[in-house]
Amino acid sequence: GRMGYGVGNSETGRESAANREQRRGRKDEHVDLAVAQQPHGNDFDAIDFVHDALAAVDVAEVDLRAKIGPVTWPVPFYINGMTGGTEKTGQINRVLAIGAAAVGIPMATGSVSVALDNPATAASFRVIREENPHGFVMANIGAGRGAEDAQRAVDLVEADALQVHINAVQEIVMPEGDREFAHWQRNIAAIVRAVEVPVIVKEVGFGLSRRTVETLRELGVAIADVGGTGGTDFAAIENARRKGREYAYLAGYGLSTPACLLDAGCGNSARAVGADGFPILASGGIRTPFDAVKALALGARAAGVAAQFLRLALAGEDTLVAGLNSWKKQIRALLALLGAKNPVAATETDVIIRAGLREWCEARGID
Ligand code: FNR
Repeated sequence: GRMGYGVGNSETGRESAANREQRRGRKDEHVDLAVAQQPHGNDFDAIDFVHDALAAVDVAEVDLRAKIGPVTWPVPFYINGMTGGTEKTGQINRVLAIGAAAVGIPMATGSVSVALDNPATAASFRVIREENPHGFVMANIGAGRGAEDAQRAVDLVEADALQVHINAVQEIVMPEGDREFAHWQRNIAAIVRAVEVPVIVKEVGFGLSRRTVETLRELGVAIADVGGTGGTDFAAIENARRKGREYAYLAGYGLSTPACLLDAGCGNSARAVGADGFPILASGGIRTPFDAVKALALGARAAGVAAQFLRLALAGEDTLVAGLNSWKKQIRALLALLGAKNPVAATETDVIIRAGLREWCEARGID
């Protein structure tokens, strides 16, 4: 694998000057274009809670800790993998890490491929650990990279877990993108065997179907992050970055985050992938703490946020810290309102599923 969020050459560990320029342009453009995509209606709007006016518990009674397979987080939400590799994105990582440390929020790096190919860019990722020495940090790498690179990614930020992204749709839309995908499953299995930290496999905004989640479980992956549609759309972003726009029709392609959670039978012991409840994270289109709590109610163990926290980070560290504290406060309050003393208890809430999401459930035999 060579392309994706990075353009490198894992054989030589070097990249050409032209590739380097191209990659630098892409990293900064991804930030600008993602922030410009306005939050819009998505499938979280098709989920209503059946309000029970006497269900609420005391806010102080809510234990926010999230247990996700082998890891425990202080809160049931996290800053998802975004960026690094340039001066500007290194600054963004610094702000995100300061926010993560101040509020105690788990955080992922963007794809570190660029730093493996060009060590001069490593500082833009290492800052994430330097500013947050004791927090939960995840490294991020594409499934096109091998086990050795995966370990180097973990070492770069002394990561507590590794996110491996799978992004075939994005690669296809990019003319310079990867065209070899068949080895991804083998790579994932090798990475799981090689690295000591838990491996989380994530989509980047096109979703994981039940079949994909089952495959990941069989490959030995510890946690799946469905990374569905409803928020940042990398098909639209990659189309916007070039003239031809051959794949313009792929904007909106994929599975919505709530659809993925329902398909995988998250929070529904009768339908869950794996009898012991394979742990699943929700990301993609989480716009508000309310969306995060809806994801918890559908059985996600925690909710990942990328673009919304990027917007806060661009406004500066004070805005980000205030925003993260506010999310934490609101998620606690909303869980109390639902009568959930912890994130998992939110799955006991009754919800109504409307509109297109309901059609999805019918088509997939979910009741
Ligand atoms: C991303 N995302 C991403 N994912 C990944 O695994 N590796 C990466 O390097 C990046 N890079 C990246 C850059 C920027 C600027 C954004 C906004 C996002 C995808 C991200 O983790 C997430 O899956 C999607 O953005 C969907 O979540 P939101 O943005 O709808 O909350």
